[in-house]
This record gives sequence, C-alpha cells and structure tokens, in this order.
Amino acid sequence: MAESFVLNTGARIPSVGLGTSQAEPGVVGKAIYAAVKVGYRHIDCAPAYHNEKEIGMALKKLFEDGVVKREDLFITSKLWSGNQAPEDVLEGLETTLEDLQLDYLDLFLIHAPLRSKKGATPTPENFLPIDIPATWGAMEKLYNSGKARAIGVSNFSCKKMEDLLAIARVPPAVNQVESHPIWQQIKLRELCQSKGVHLSAYSPLGKARSPGSERPTVLSNPIVISVAEKLQRTPAQVALRWGLQMGQSIIPKSTNEARIKENLNIFDWSIPEDLMAKFSEIQQVKMLRAEFVVHPQGIFKTVEDFWDGEI
Ligand SMILES: NC(=O)c1ccc[n+]([C@@H]2O[C@H](COP(=O)([O-])OP(=O)(O)OC[C@H]3O[C@@H](n4cnc5c(N)ncnc54)[C@H](OP(=O)(O)O)[C@@H]3O)[C@@H](O)[C@H]2O)c1
Repeated sequence: MAESFVLNTGARIPSVGLGTSQAEPGVVGKAIYAAVKVGYRHIDCAPAYHNEKEIGMALKKLFEDGVVKREDLFITSKLWSGNQAPEDVLEGLETTLEDLQLDYLDLFLIHAPLRSKKGATPTPENFLPIDIPATWGAMEKLYNSGKARAIGVSNFSCKKMEDLLAIARVPPAVNQVESHPIWQQIKLRELCQSKGVHLSAYSPLGKARSPGSERPTVLSNPIVISVAEKLQRTPAQVALRWGLQMGQSIIPKSTNEARIKENLNIFDWSIPEDLMAKFSEIQQVKMLRAEFVVHPQGIFKTVEDFWDGEI
C-alpha cells in the first residue's frame, strides 16, 4: 500500500494525516510534535478549529529542532464561511499562513459550501447565498500565485462536484468528506475517482469518542470488531486500513500519543479481499449531518438541502 496518493497536480498527499479538530489549546501543539516525530507527514488544519497559532508554534519548533524540513510536510488548511466572498479569499489564506507561520500551504480547501457574513458567528441568521464559481475563481488565483500548491473543496456532494467541475479552469485536487465503514461514500468516491479528484476522508474513525450520540459507532460495529479480531488489530486500525484500501487518504484526530502511534501502524498488513467484502453489509449512517446550518426561515431549511439530498 502506497504511503501517499498522487493528486491531479502531480504532488503527493501522504495517505495518513493528523486531524486537529477539537484538539484543545495546550494539547494540540504537543500532539503535532509527537505525531511528526513518529512519522506523520500530513497535518489537517482549519481556522474554524481555533488552534492554528499553536500548531504554527509546534511546526516552527519541529523545523528549528531539525526534526523535519518544511518541504517534508504536507499541510492542509481551509477557507471558512466568513471569507467566502471572492474579495476575502486571499485574506483567509494569508491569516492562516501567518498563524501557521508558513509561506505556502500544500492544500487549501473551501471548508464547506457555506457562506456567512464576514466576522459574524456562522449561525443561520448570518448565512448568505453562496456563489461557488466566484469563490472558486478566487481560489484559482491563489493556486496560480503558488501560495496554495493545490486547491480543493470539502463537504461537496456529487451534485456540487459536478457543477464545479463543469466551470473550473483549475479542477479541484481533493474533496475532503466524511468517510468511514459506516458512511462509505461509494457514489461520491466513484465520481471523484472518475474525474481525477482525490477523496480525503475526515472523521475516519467516525468521531470515535463523540459523547452523547445514540447513533451506532464505527468502533462498536460488529463487522469492524470481527475483522479486527481475525487480524489481531484494533477496531480503529481496521477502520483506517479500510479507508486506505478504498483509495482515500485518512486524517484521524488524536492528541493521545499511544493512539497517534496506533493510527499510523497500518502499513505492514492489509485486510484480505474476503474480509473487505464484509464491509458492504454495514448499514450506512452519516455522523456529521451539520444540523447547525438548518433554520426554518434560513437558506437551508433541512439537512437534506445542505447535502443536496445525498444523506
Ligand atoms: N472538512 C470538514 O468539514 C471536517 C469535519 C470533521 C473533521 N475534519 C478533519 O478530520 C479530522 C478527523 O475527524 P474527527 O476529529 O471528526 O474524528 P475521528 O478522527 O474519526 O475521531 C477522533 C476521535 O477518536 C478518538 N481516537 C483517535 N484515535 C483513536 C483510537 N485509535 N482508538 C479509539 N479512539 C481514538 C480521538 O480521541 P483522542 O484524541 O483522545 O485519541 C477523538 O475523540 C478532524 O480532526 C479534522 O482535521 C474535517
């Protein structure tokens, strides 16, 4: 199994990255340092996670301590909803670069097909109609400037991907979406693969420790558990390995050193074909439904509106 996938830009994206959402201040910097030391080369960031400054300090220390060079790392970040107006896109990237203490990103994504008033809390009363072609035009300029070495999208449905591909002069390199054994994204992955767009899987453990959810979880799924038992691996490793074998990069989040190592230990073994086939029996449930965007008088009246019915 390759430890990276080739993007349509010709660059390689490491197949495992460290997620940083809900990685708390005071903890995330140590997690980044530990992850890079044990071999992670991809970090998934976003201004919406409110921790890019601390990540920037950890990256600086990694470079100063000679653990890695900038060119050895693949850093992803994202454009949040308040900077979606075309004239605000460059500022979104520059703020992130300043916080991360970097000159360029390896990948810059439109975080979600969601636009809110600049500087306002992204709640339904502050949402504005989105003009994806206009935002994408501004993203293309960043790509041409070299400050974002690849550009892409996140949380885009099949419909939004097709609409974007129809107008893009620079096609998106990546669509970063939820994907794991209980939300497999079969249709979207096939579409992306057929168009040369790499699918990167967020929440690849199905947000393993989300408290209070009554939905089924990836790590308690009987098929995931039985495959893990047969292969003498943990359910988390099986879920992650499944993602790699489906051809997607994965960005599990952990701030725990033992789990950071566990999540990278998925390269010297594989899930055999007969066990991979078992995953098609798993009932599909979307974890991240984005209920926060819904309002009866708002732009998205139901979650189906936001996901173009693909939920
Ligand atoms: N583009 C988007 O809209 C979007 C949306 C969601 C997420 N993301 C990105 O994807 C990353 C990953 O997604 P996620 O954070 O939602 O969920 P996830 O990676 O599926 O799950 C993270 C949770 O699993 C726990 N965990 C990690 N390794 C484990 C293991 N080996 N065994 C048991 N539990 C384990 C973590 O706790 P500990 O830290 O305590 O280990 C954390 O609570 C995010 O951090 C973010 O970078 C992007």
